[in-house]
Amino acid sequence: MRNRIAVLISGWGTNLKSLIDSAKSGIFEISCVISNKKQAPGLKFAEESSIPSFVVGRDNMEDEIHRILINYEIELICLAGFMRVLTPEFVNKWKNRVINIHPSLLPSFKGLNAQEQALKAGVKIAGCTVHFVTPELDSGEIIVQGAVPVLPDDNLNSLTQRILKMEHVCYPLAVKKVLTNQLEQDYYFLQ
Ligand code: GRF
Repeated sequence: MRNRIAVLISGWGTNLKSLIDSAKSGIFEISCVISNKKQAPGLKFAEESSIPSFVVGRDNMEDEIHRILINYEIELICLAGFMRVLTPEFVNKWKNRVINIHPSLLPSFKGLNAQEQALKAGVKIAGCTVHFVTPELDSGEIIVQGAVPVLPDDNLNSLTQRILKMEHVCYPLAVKKVLTNQLEQDYYFLQ
């Protein structure tokens, strides 16, 4: 039986799409998609692939999410552009079973607008990180990182797109790495 994962989104869902594509031939299935935004464009990827999707409200959001995860017997929760911070209670309940993708080479540029922070800092190498979620924001153990160059004529959009392309490589691999217990192996990608 394939491992059952849930993907939580709030927006475009391009990382969800990369996970859906890799699940076709992979060891895991995306058993459900959860969004905190009814209008999240990414919900269409779930629909196209006939994956059950749920929109959760603001009140009791985590209880709702928890119930769905239990219902679908979820083993791993993948945050993919999910724009709500989960409480320590929730994170501890699902300890080591929640992972996130962040558009920087952590521990640099935590929080919002990571790509803009990188441009402002003038770094020459940027990238993305898949990491375990802990109560402290963007600080859990690193699973996979991917690096991309920052080019002299980059703007926010061009850098964001280059990092996003790398995210789509890194996230499916990070999921496989966690599900197959290969955390000790180093995974990094350079563009
Ligand atoms: C990505 O840049 C991800 O790193 C960040 O939010 C963005 C989500 O993009 N956490 P998408 O919705 O997967 O296209």
